[in-house]
Amino acid sequence: MCGIVGYIGSNNVKEVLLDGLKELEYRGYDSAGISVLQDESFSVYKAVGKLKNLQHKAEDFKPEGFAVGIGHTRWATHGKPTELNAHPHLGEYSYVVHNGIIENYQELKKELTAKGVKFLSQTDTEVIVHLFEQNLNSIEDAFEAFKLTLSQLQGAYAILLVTKSEPDTIFFAKEGSPMIIGTDALEQKFFASSDTPLIGHAKDVIYLHDGEFGFVTPDAIALFDSCHEAVRPQFSALPESKLSAQKEGFRFFMEKEIYEQTEVIADTMLGRIQDNAIAFDELDPSLFEGINEVKFCACGTSYHSALASTYLFERHAKIRTSVEIASEFRYKEPLMTTDTLFVVISQSGETADTLETLKMAKEAGLKTLVICNVDNSSMVRLADATILTRAGIEKGVASTKAFATQVTIFWMLSLYLAGERKTLSTENITKQIASLREIPASVAVNDDLHERLKRLSKRYLHGHGFFFIGRDVFYPLALEGALKLKEISYLHAEGYPSGEMKHGPIALADPELFTIALMPQHMLYDKTKSNVEELSARDSTICAISNLTFDKADDFIPIADRDHYMLEFFEMMVVLQLLSMEIAIRLGNDVDMPRNLAKSVTVE
Ligand code: AGP
Repeated sequence: MCGIVGYIGSNNVKEVLLDGLKELEYRGYDSAGISVLQDESFSVYKAVGKLKNLQHKAEDFKPEGFAVGIGHTRWATHGKPTELNAHPHLGEYSYVVHNGIIENYQELKKELTAKGVKFLSQTDTEVIVHLFEQNLNSIEDAFEAFKLTLSQLQGAYAILLVTKSEPDTIFFAKEGSPMIIGTDALEQKFFASSDTPLIGHAKDVIYLHDGEFGFVTPDAIALFDSCHEAVRPQFSALPESKLSAQKEGFRFFMEKEIYEQTEVIADTMLGRIQDNAIAFDELDPSLFEGINEVKFCACGTSYHSALASTYLFERHAKIRTSVEIASEFRYKEPLMTTDTLFVVISQSGETADTLETLKMAKEAGLKTLVICNVDNSSMVRLADATILTRAGIEKGVASTKAFATQVTIFWMLSLYLAGERKTLSTENITKQIASLREIPASVAVNDDLHERLKRLSKRYLHGHGFFFIGRDVFYPLALEGALKLKEISYLHAEGYPSGEMKHGPIALADPELFTIALMPQHMLYDKTKSNVEELSARDSTICAISNLTFDKADDFIPIADRDHYMLEFFEMMVVLQLLSMEIAIRLGNDVDMPRNLAKSVTVE
């Protein structure tokens, strides 16, 4: 998710813009830029990587007095993270920043190029500013030209546009991506894509609705709705604290991050799925040349996503795939051959054990790939290739959205490899891509379900422990569910392949042993059902999660009827995350910073 800021006023426009972008860092980005219009001339600064690179570039820029400015942090979707692709984007005398996707940008770009427009970037955004200037050249009224431009765009957008033709004005529009306008007693005007950058600056804010657009000058806010009717701005008060603003009304960052999964998974898929193929522009196909085996290596939750992916890789790409726990792999004197692609998975990109195994693989001459959520982290800098999950900064110690985006990447990567190795038909890949597109919907939190889990959680606050059980990819999901519960509730929980119950664990079965049973309709349902019945027959308390009703469950959590087992995986993942969180909240624990844990384990 990109970040947007804007400002009109006389109070140090550069600091307001850069401080605003800093408050949006948590959304994740790989490049940033600002554009300031003062005395009818533009000053523009852009940089790849972290904001400090942009601040360094702009350090000699010291604007004083009245100015108009816009700023942006970008997650690369169309086009790699480069300065040319960083926003703001220039026409001839105007700049634009944009969050969202212009779905018809290719045809617009073609029409504009045919008219002689020269494009500098690979982005969809750049068409907006060229289209605006083409329209202005013929209409000669900037606001009318802006209105016409909006009518020609299809897709989701939050836009800020500044132009020399109206040097004291910011044009704005909101359709599908967030945009807020702030004002203060000094008549300064602020824009941001979330509350936090406005706290400490604006007094009152306008949360724009889809379809609304208009312009702001030092003296006025002109707001119109999707029917082009003038709208009286509805002002609201801003949250007092930045921390509460960053939580955006949720009780914990973990809760917010569970709810964000819909959006960040959609971001993670952007630019990577076509109708009948998967594309990873960041990968050179030569990475897989001469590769006969894939070995994953990770810790904790990242290990669980990797374990789930071994099933997908062998099933789809027909390539031998294994997974190692990094702290074990480091010291087992492993056999490593150069026909193995070594893949490390890490949210932080800094986990000591995982980083060391990456070094071991490189020293052994293996090709390496990292799946990571933090650009420019140690592992990203070291690996031969990187695929970034676009989960944004994950503040909750218990990982949720990072795990969700890792598994999304792995499902896509298994199909990408299947396409490269021709181990799946185009029809099969096309059908699975249609299911992939359903992931955001499958992880959208259903309020009724959340309320139900809140109520249910009071029944699971004691007992002598939990079994989380599942088969196939639902075994790693069971491990992940058990880890989530342990991490934040401090209750004992174990994840098990459900077929293992009769090999010992069932000795623990009694009414005080809670079994959370993952019972997908589309993956070994009958086998799992008979395993759960073994436990129920020995009076274990069963909480079944399934689309199919199960009469031997003491508690039953229904999920939707999905056409692919991986969509059942994602929906059950949300149930496990919310259930663990609600149990921990009832126990009065600090959900975001559980005892004894750190977000990134940079020591052995
Ligand atoms: C996940 O909830 C835990 N916080 C922990 O297991 C984490 O997944 C593990 O430490 C690995 O971290 P990484 O993904 O940043 O490498």
